[in-house]
Amino acid sequence: MEMLLKVGEVQNEKGELIVLGVFEDQPGLSASASAVDQVLGGKIAQILADGDFKGKTSAMALLYTDGVAIAKRILLVGLGKQAKFDVEAIRVAAGVVAKRVRELGVKKYTTELFGFEVHTVCLADAVQAVAEGTGLALYEFTELKSDNNSNGKKIEEVGVLLPESSDISEAEAGLAAGKAIVLGTSLTRDLVNWPGNFATPTFLATQAQQMAEKTGLTCQVLDEEAMAELGMGGLLGVSSGSEQPAKFIILEHNANKTDLDTIVLVGKGVTFDSGGISIKPADDMDRMRSDMAGGAAVIGAMLAVATLDLPLHVVALVPATENMPDGRAMKPGDILRAMNGKTIEIINTDAEGRLVLADSLCFAARYNPKVVVDIATLTGARTIALGDQAIGLFSNEDALVQRFVEAGKKTRERVWQLPLFEEYADNLKSFAADMKHQGGKGGGACIAAAFLNKFVSYPWVHLDIAGLVSTETERPYTPRWATGWGARLLTQFLRDWAGE
Ligand code: BES
Ligand code: MN
Ligand code: ZN
Repeated sequence: MEMLLKVGEVQNEKGELIVLGVFEDQPGLSASASAVDQVLGGKIAQILADGDFKGKTSAMALLYTDGVAIAKRILLVGLGKQAKFDVEAIRVAAGVVAKRVRELGVKKYTTELFGFEVHTVCLADAVQAVAEGTGLALYEFTELKSDNNSNGKKIEEVGVLLPESSDISEAEAGLAAGKAIVLGTSLTRDLVNWPGNFATPTFLATQAQQMAEKTGLTCQVLDEEAMAELGMGGLLGVSSGSEQPAKFIILEHNANKTDLDTIVLVGKGVTFDSGGISIKPADDMDRMRSDMAGGAAVIGAMLAVATLDLPLHVVALVPATENMPDGRAMKPGDILRAMNGKTIEIINTDAEGRLVLADSLCFAARYNPKVVVDIATLTGARTIALGDQAIGLFSNEDALVQRFVEAGKKTRERVWQLPLFEEYADNLKSFAADMKHQGGKGGGACIAAAFLNKFVSYPWVHLDIAGLVSTETERPYTPRWATGWGARLLTQFLRDWAGE
């Protein structure tokens, strides 16, 4: 699908289909809709008066123009209430429209910039949101299907119509950002959608390498021998039960520039989490193929960062491994030694994420980073506390919390701060080792964060995305299964940091 910018007036557009936005509580039609309505002899006003279509979020009405000198079809899309209008409303409208047009079998269409007269969203953001909503809604994972999900119906071209007076370079910047973000998020979704028998640690490493070759990122993959030399006993402890060798993936943007801020991203890359010896119940265990979604988010964000060529030194670390039960697997009661020399008593082998992150957080210190952000499907407790609307955020710096709150609002991958109180670590006292990796009743997400905090020596943000990375219910611009959560949030945080 190609997306391009056009300048002109909707009523002069010819072609198969044009899209117009309508607010729920708007007294009259927008200027563009009334211009079209004049050509149509009041058809749009009639539909609204009849009450068949009220402009509610995601509602649509399709009109055939019967050969009047204008596009063949007009698709009206509801924008919801004007007071609530924002980039998310644009993404939702663009998303439902794209899917509807695909269903119709129409290959090319033109859409106006939704709600432009309201002036609550700037031009660049509006164009970006149309690109995101469209591109993300049309995403499909068909690699393992003999037939194609959309029955061969593919949209080839979407034109975004700009008002005559628009600043074209601003719109172009928005389009470029939107395209880069769709590209990155689609990679994240692909990696999460590939099932565990395909998406092994080696597969993740190969995908990262191929992406790096295309974009000019630097990529280095450490094998288990190198991990052993570094003393990564947490990561190796988890991988010891698996036939698949663990990989430690390092991607870098602007590796050779010394004058840029360094930000390290760490993404949990457990390609399948059976729980290990502390095996999980069978129900829903298949979901644990998405336990590498933090790693996938980081890799997708790096693709967006490279495409946008952000003026930052960004390092991505992905500790990739399976967590499996086996004769050689780590056992409850075992004591491992992490990269910083600290010993860890294993309580429940299903708390494997924090072990692979511990070594990664130690490794991150080597880059002398301004900030380290880790992102992980870490605890079921996150899901219980926050449901499907907010990432659990922990941080040792208030300014970073604020940055993520802002980035979360813009992307709708919203975050909610949870406490990093020192006392949570009291649950991790061990008789035989420096610490246990799990303990206490309740507050599981907070205790996990308190454990990670022991390996941190810099400004830090921990994002718990458990339960948010896969869904059985389709949403306006999110098809079933991999949601891609994290990729857009991280990219936004980095763009804001770079001042772009
Ligand atoms: N990958 C899971 C967390 C998870 C749970 C993700 C549900 C998505 C949905 C993690 O490795 C895990 O098993 N955590 C345990 C920790 C416990 C044993 C301390 C949990 O949250 O139950
Ligand atoms: Mn687990
Ligand atoms: Zn896990």
